[in-house]
This record gives sequence, structure tokens and C-alpha cells, in this order.
Amino acid sequence: MIIKPEISGVVARSAHPLGCEKAILQQIDYVKNADPIKQGPKRVLIIGASSGFGLAARIALTFGGAKADTIGVSFERGPSEKGVGSAGYYNNLFFQKHAKAEGRLALNIQADAFSPQTKEEVIEAIETYFEGEVDLIIYSVASGIRPNYQTGEMWRSAIKPIGNSVKGASLSLEHDQWLENELEPASNEEIEGTLKVMGGDDWEAWVDTLINSESIAEGCKTVAFSYIGPELTHPIYLDGTLGRAKIDLHQTSHSLNLKLANFDGGAYATVCKALVTKASVFIPGLTPYLMALYQVMKQKRTHEGCIEQMHRLFTTKLYGVNKVPVDCERLIRIDDLELDEDTQRQVNEMVAKMNADNFKQIGDYQGLKQEFMQLNGFELDDVDYLADIDIEQLVKSLT
Ligand code: NAI
Repeated sequence: MIIKPEISGVVARSAHPLGCEKAILQQIDYVKNADPIKQGPKRVLIIGASSGFGLAARIALTFGGAKADTIGVSFERGPSEKGVGSAGYYNNLFFQKHAKAEGRLALNIQADAFSPQTKEEVIEAIETYFEGEVDLIIYSVASGIRPNYQTGEMWRSAIKPIGNSVKGASLSLEHDQWLENELEPASNEEIEGTLKVMGGDDWEAWVDTLINSESIAEGCKTVAFSYIGPELTHPIYLDGTLGRAKIDLHQTSHSLNLKLANFDGGAYATVCKALVTKASVFIPGLTPYLMALYQVMKQKRTHEGCIEQMHRLFTTKLYGVNKVPVDCERLIRIDDLELDEDTQRQVNEMVAKMNADNFKQIGDYQGLKQEFMQLNGFELDDVDYLADIDIEQLVKSLT
């Protein structure tokens, strides 16, 4: 079959396997040519490993000097009568193919990270493949829902402001359209739901489970990813439901840090840059800011993608340093280039001028849309998009 892009709203309904491989190869190429990670971890568990920051971290640690073996947990859709499957599904397979070729172990566990059963499955895998211990745990799950395994109910996250309604624009990537909207404030239930899904609760459950099963190696570290952003984005992000969840994540990092101190290790929330990922295009009101940020940072040559961010995290913050550098709230900051004063001044000016008629000219809409397409394996150079692909055969050759 010939695979074409299908988008509804901001959700990709198809993915191109060969493009997914190409995107992975580009990231591998980046880390192989960048400064190597020194004194890096050898046995790494990545929860949320199939796309965005989790995938980039996996690539950086495997191919960027540390030569890590990895267990990756993710929740992805394989091919079925309904469609070709998700990009993350192919990312897992192609990552594994290239890691194996390099002599590295790369185990993919596709299951619900929130489930106690998945945690047990991972512990068994750590026993089997990692001699029972991990050196680094990366928590990079972005989800809209979390089942409550005790009651059978579902917690749902809501991306909303708290207290007051907020006006903002989002984009339909399907129709290349600017959509004005007003977001009503979240209810208490929505605040609580977002906290359960995107806060630190499940990260803590993972680390607790691994401590209880004696799977934590001496010096083991754990990181999860956060966002703070400039004032412009605070009404929808930091002061809203997502920000509440991230503050909870920061607090969790402190309690986990105390627990891991017993192993001479540490726990850190890492504040990343705003980037186009499967998860972030969902955040209403953030896209005008993202378009302006991309435009300014590209002009200034300070723009980074997930792979550059993760490489910088491992080479300059977490490994090969005497002491992990943190800010006054004990957060690792790799959002410094985004928050640069002159960058933010230019972004603010640009966002103030941006509207439904001019957003494609003023902001980096092309760049944002292209990155979204590339996340799903489309619009990459040197990929034959007219090739007839036998999905069943392809998957068979990779498993
Ligand atoms: P993403 O959507 O690219 O990746 C999310 C990962 O979570 C995927 O591997 C997916 O399979 C996995 N996942 C989702 N539900 C799951 C489940 N139930 N069980 C197992 N795996 C599951 O997201 P992205 O953007 O890389 O986000 C990762 C973290 O980084 C999130 O905490 C996000 O808030 C944070 N972050 C993102 C920023 C951005 O601009 N994209 C900026 C700063 C922080």
C-alpha cells in the first residue's frame, strides 16, 4: 500500500514507517557526531520511550557514547484493520533494529505504564536482562487518561486554566487554520484528574516498586520532564491544570531524591524547552507562542529539538559532572535558551502581532507543521513516499 498522511485536527491518523526510520537515523547521526556522554549509565529504563523526549533520551544514551542497554515502555498502536498503526510503534521497532546492529540490548514493552502488572513485567525484564538492577529511570509519559486500577474508573487530564477563563488561539493542522477559543476554568475534579494523570504519582509508584523489588543499582538516578515557560504562557500552562501537575512532579522529585539518597543516587525534575511533539500540539493557546519561539530561536541559531535537549541533559547536567547543577528549587534547567531575555522580547512582540490572517507569515508555521509531519514519518528527505509498502511483511522482518 501507499501510505499517505491523515490528520484530524491535531491528531495524526497514519504514520509512515520508512519516514519514522529516517527520523531515528537522523537523531542517531546527531548524537554520534556530538560530544560523547561520559560516565553514562549502562542499564536504563525509559517509561514513555517511543516518541518525543523519551525516544530522544533512548537514542542519546544508546548511540551517544554511553552504550546503554534499554528497556522501553510505551503505549502504541500496531497495524490493524483500522490503520497502519502509530508512529511510536514503528519508532520502537526501528530503534530496536539499529540498537541491535550496534550490539545493544533494546527491549520494547508495549503496555499501560500506569498498570501494576506492567511494573511487574518490567521488574522481570530487569531480572532477566539487567542482572536485576537499573542505573537510570526516565519517566517521560504524556497521556490524557489514567485508569484507576483499584476502582476501574478513569482519571482524565484537562488542559485548562484555573480560576479564570483564558482566551487563546490554537491551530487545526488538518486545515491549516487559526482557531480562536476561550477556555473555561477547570473544575476541581478536572484539576484533580490532571494531577493524577500528569503529576508525580505514577513516577513515584514506579520508583517505589523498583526499590521494593531491589532493582535500584548503587548511584541510580531518575528524571522526569517538566515545563515552566515564560509569563506569556502562564495563564494556560503554569497557572493552569498542567502547571499544577508539574508542581506536583517537582515535589515528587524531592521525596524520590531522599529515597534514592540511600543508594547514593538522586531524583530530578528537568525543565525542558517547548517543542512540537504528539503531546504538546494538544495544548490550546500554546501554538502561537510555539510558532513565534521557533521563528526567533531558528533566526538566532539557538533552536533545539528533543535530541539536542536530551544530549545536553546527559552531557552537561547528569553525567560526567561532579555535582548535578540545579536551580534554587532543585530543578535541572535546559530551558535556558528559550527563556533568554532577548529571545522572549522578540517572541512577545511577534505574538502580539499574530492573528488568523498573518500567522503563516509572521510565525514559523511551516516549521511547526513540518515537524509535526516528521514526527509521524512524513515530509522527510530521501524517503520514497510513493513506494508500495507491505506492512505485514515489514513488521515480520522487524520482529
Ligand atoms: P510524547 O507524546 O512525544 O511521548 C509520550 C510517551 O508516553 C510516548 O512514548 C507514549 O507511548 C507514552 N505513553 C502515553 N501513555 C502511556 C501509557 N498509558 N503507558 C505507557 N506509555 C504511555 O510526549 P513528550 O512531549 O515527549 O512528553 C514527555 C514529557 O515531557 C511529558 O511529561 C511532558 O509534559 C514533558 N514536556 C514536554 C514538552 C514539550 O514541549 N513537548 C516541554 C517540557 C516538558
